[in-house]
Amino acid sequence: MKVTVVGAGAVGATCADNIARKELVEELVLVDIKEGFAEGKALDISQTASLLGFDTRVVGVTNDYSRTANSDVVVITSGIPRKPGMTREELIGTNARIVEDVSKNLLQYSPNAVIVVISNPMDTMTYLTLKATGLPKNRVIGMGGILDSARFKCYIQQALNCSSNDLHAVVIGGHGDTTMIPLTRLATVNGTLVSNMLSSDQLKQIAADTMVGGATLTKLLGTSAWYAPGAAGAALVESIIRNEKKVFPCCVALDGEYGQKDICMGVPVVVGRNGWEKIIDYKLNAEELALFNKSADAVRSMNNVLATLA
Ligand code: 2OP
Repeated sequence: MKVTVVGAGAVGATCADNIARKELVEELVLVDIKEGFAEGKALDISQTASLLGFDTRVVGVTNDYSRTANSDVVVITSGIPRKPGMTREELIGTNARIVEDVSKNLLQYSPNAVIVVISNPMDTMTYLTLKATGLPKNRVIGMGGILDSARFKCYIQQALNCSSNDLHAVVIGGHGDTTMIPLTRLATVNGTLVSNMLSSDQLKQIAADTMVGGATLTKLLGTSAWYAPGAAGAALVESIIRNEKKVFPCCVALDGEYGQKDICMGVPVVVGRNGWEKIIDYKLNAEELALFNKSADAVRSMNNVLATLA
């Protein structure tokens, strides 16, 4: 098995590092546009192999897509990250062109690959990738909800002082500070509703902190985060490569599910060897559905910006 990660910046390299440590594939290719950068990151990761005990071969290349040939999964992290005060949406002009080029280059050499999109604004970049490549919808997956859910679980874990391994908590909707929907009603710790263990004010604070999770880190770090985004990308790749059939909230094309069409947004999906295989209906209540519709409006207006960029 083979995976390619495009973009050897902090998120791409961390994602690659996690994939290598997990020994998901025999070969992992890291691509970057900056001369020597992916080669350097790949060599650095390779030099941890004897320390960490993995055998994945990690190869770095500068813009040479022929080296990515026959990848089973390709991960796109390319583009500029946000700076403090910037929204993910402000990246659209620069990142749209990059993501479109990268996805076409990848497919030329790996026509059967599943594409994982991490570049921001992620919902729109996923939609763009689907349209630009014409791939079957199950083979294009945006990674945002897994990350947002991990942040949600982290804030719940801190409030309850429990093991994060006992938590189930999901964020759906868009991957934007105002578009994501932490589903506090459905969050559980080992089968018990979190809403029975925390006050509604605590739950509201956790949801609010989750929604600005990325912005909080961007402010602290001066650029966007990488450990959790990279690990979330690798978890998604793992479920595809190992055909785990895990249920993850991912950004996928909706065709009437959750009341939306012609849009890519975060919903729970089963992830396996063929990409996303099935959308799970969480039976949202009226309030959650209203938030989902509002989120869809915001994502759709961002998608509409694509037409103005040509
Ligand atoms: C984040 O939320 C990079 O979008 C990513 O940190």
